[in-house]
Amino acid sequence: MKERLEQIKAEALAQIQASDVPEKLSEVRVKFLGKKGELTAVLKSMKDVAPEERPKVGQLVNETRAAIENLLEETKEKMEKSIREEKMKEEVIDVTLPSKKNMVGHRHPNTIALEEVERIFIGMGYEVVEGPEVEYDLYNFEKLNIPDGHPAKDEQDTFYINKDIVLRTQTSPVQARVMEQGKLPIRMIAPGRVFRSDEVDATHSPSFHQIEGLVIDKNISFADLKGTLEVFAKELFGEETKTKFRPHHFPFTEPSAEVDVTCFKCGGKGCRFCKGSGWIEILGCGMVHPHVLEMCGIDPEEYSGFAFGVGLERIALLKYEIDDMRLLYENDIRFLKQF
Ligand code: DAH
Repeated sequence: MKERLEQIKAEALAQIQASDVPEKLSEVRVKFLGKKGELTAVLKSMKDVAPEERPKVGQLVNETRAAIENLLEETKEKMEKSIREEKMKEEVIDVTLPSKKNMVGHRHPNTIALEEVERIFIGMGYEVVEGPEVEYDLYNFEKLNIPDGHPAKDEQDTFYINKDIVLRTQTSPVQARVMEQGKLPIRMIAPGRVFRSDEVDATHSPSFHQIEGLVIDKNISFADLKGTLEVFAKELFGEETKTKFRPHHFPFTEPSAEVDVTCFKCGGKGCRFCKGSGWIEILGCGMVHPHVLEMCGIDPEEYSGFAFGVGLERIALLKYEIDDMRLLYENDIRFLKQF
């Protein structure tokens, strides 16, 4: 028995020393110490050993096991260490290499323009609210005084989801949604994406952005509207900017107007930028129609208000003197990083 153990030990140690990778060590471990291993077989044959001999043989078996395990462990550690060192050598970092440049993101001109507009109105005490882009026909048209069959409905080339649901063609439905909540007074702007079935060209896109404005309170007059939009225009385009209110028609406001500002390129003298007129159109506005107030649950005898709608892209194009709207959507970094 003793010789057999000596033999096992010698064989195991030799095989461990001959191992060059950790997998080989595992094989040796299984071969000698595993459930069906050689040392285990010796243990199983202990029953054939004379009882008085058993403690001695048992001790020998344990010693053999310990010797094999120790060498296995030691060799494994050595192997792992040298593998680690090998890897470290391979992965050595050259600290003298120039670093890779990280591309830092940049705010889109639309975003810059929107933040500017928000800053101006927040400064005047307005709240910024949002409404859904997929909207009920009811809010997009009906509650804005544009019933079925109204010619104004034809002017907006609408994307219909079904008969009752559309991709909103304007941010004006947010007016109706906010009024309906019944919390008065109201002083809000509602920026967001709108959709129209328009062909893409230098000034059109099927998806663009508007900023809606709405003020409802007691005794709000056209003078408040004019004053507010004058402040807005001066803040946005410069102190010397003048505004002009041209009569216009929108179904949900009465009276309605379009607002022009003096061309900030030529100061109103007329240039290529303003096509010689000295004026640039920037938004639509008006006093909220009493019927719209009524439909949204507000008493027009007690309350009045004004509304306006600005095209965000139009502001960005003007402010940064970009002459083609498509540039705003191409996401060419060489273009975007100029702003
Ligand atoms: N929703 C209008 C449009 O898309 C713009 C507009 C005009 C909004 C007058 C208003 C307004 O709130 O009072 O053409």
